[in-house]
Amino acid sequence: MPKRQSVFVCSQCGRHEAKWLGHCPDCQTWDSFVEETLATSPGGVGRARRKARGAAGHVTSVSLSDVTSSAQQRFSSGTAELDRVLGGGIVPGSLVLVGGEPGIGKSTLLLQVLDHVAGERPVLLVCGEESAAQIRMRAERICASPGSIRVLAETELETVMAALDQERPELVVVDSVQTLYSDDLSSAPGSVSQVREAAGRLLRLAKQSGAAVFLVGHVTKDGAIAGPRVLEHMVDTVLQFEGDKDRFFRILRAAKNRFGSTNELGVFEMSEAGLRPVPDPSQLFAGEGSPAAGSALHVAVEGTRCFLVEVQALVATTELALPRRVTTGFDRNRLAMIVAVLGRHASLPLSSSDVFVNIAGGIHVEEPAADLAVAVAIASASRNVPLPAGAALFGEIGLTGEVRSSSQPERRYAEATRVGRSAVVMARGDAGRVGPQKSSAVGVATVRSALSSLLGTVSPAPVAPGNQSDERGV
Ligand SMILES: Nc1ncnc2c1ncn2[C@@H]1O[C@H](COP(=O)(O)OP(=O)(O)OP(=O)(O)O)[C@@H](O)[C@H]1O
Ligand SMILES: [Mg+2]
Repeated sequence: MPKRQSVFVCSQCGRHEAKWLGHCPDCQTWDSFVEETLATSPGGVGRARRKARGAAGHVTSVSLSDVTSSAQQRFSSGTAELDRVLGGGIVPGSLVLVGGEPGIGKSTLLLQVLDHVAGERPVLLVCGEESAAQIRMRAERICASPGSIRVLAETELETVMAALDQERPELVVVDSVQTLYSDDLSSAPGSVSQVREAAGRLLRLAKQSGAAVFLVGHVTKDGAIAGPRVLEHMVDTVLQFEGDKDRFFRILRAAKNRFGSTNELGVFEMSEAGLRPVPDPSQLFAGEGSPAAGSALHVAVEGTRCFLVEVQALVATTELALPRRVTTGFDRNRLAMIVAVLGRHASLPLSSSDVFVNIAGGIHVEEPAADLAVAVAIASASRNVPLPAGAALFGEIGLTGEVRSSSQPERRYAEATRVGRSAVVMARGDAGRVGPQKSSAVGVATVRSALSSLLGTVSPAPVAPGNQSDERGV
């Protein structure tokens, strides 16, 4: 007779407590503990596995040189954008969690992957959210050969595991992990223990059978993957879909990746025929490039990608005692620092102005190299003077107002000139690395000299530490 035990579990982070708590000491969430009943049989899984190994219980370790690396067995997902984010393709035996807001395109992307892989390997789509007929409707719109994808519209975990055991697919997509439930547990589908149980069973299947498993995970209002954080620890890779779902492009990032870099970025465009890769994001994010006051182009590097993004700023007289600093796609604390530097070192007081900064296209820019473009966009908005046509920028701003070097200036410069930018403003050291003979590379030492190069004289004009290149107009 299995022993029944009741525990209280935090629905946000998965912390277990013997009694109910109003506030989770781990993730600081209020009112997140729910009661769950665990059914445990003495000995559990461990005993079954020991029994399977035989009475002797003989266990041997292996030498790593005898183990075949699965890196050589990676296979393509069919889109170069996703392959790059995964670190070079799908790794057999890996468990990948795909998160993103409702309607962003998770099911669409994974159906396209299944469509591509189905030609070469057996694949299975386990679907608890939509019926097979609804999936067929989407497949007819986006798949080249919908007939080769096998679908299982089922939510009971035991039935799903039995089907996987029978069909032995090499690629499995579970849409979504929150819909699976095990009869062995009494808690409701989507609860912490159900999600963890489903992910645990699928993890064991992936590692034992070598099948690559993609789990779709719902996200909460603040963007985290719903259910326990422990789910993110269990899987090999966490992919996050970002972007403005009202617009057409989507960005895929790896929040965690055991088999590749997390700096990589995949860019897609949503269309009638599904998600189309965008191989040249500069064209997408840089906009029309027509100079308007408050707009500046930043040359960004994300992983192996280099592209231009438009930074937009608006400066308006505040009606509040505490002026607002609002950002979309940029760090708010970083904005506060840039506003302070502009006031102190570039004679641009903004203490009675609201400042809004937006990175166009719903993209998030996290690198400090975006500071210079943000500072110049704010100054341009404040003075209502547009930047010269053809200008692009990159550079980190220090607290003393200096413009500091950024990573990979040569690549950034090459990308900016490739898309027709005729004046690329960067730190003086970076301009030296790009090459003194490059006429469109403009080195600046301070944020003040950057503003006077791009927007005209900054007054009052103290002695600006600069070099000859600072004086060059653009
Ligand atoms: N005919 C169409 N033409 C263009 N885009 C479409 C069409 N039909 C659907 N879409 C796009 O596909 C999106 C839905 O994609 P999908 O169902 O893959 O999202 P999801 O992330 O799986 O959502 P959920 O979390 O609700 O399951 C819609 O928001 C819309 O942008
Ligand atoms: Mg979906």
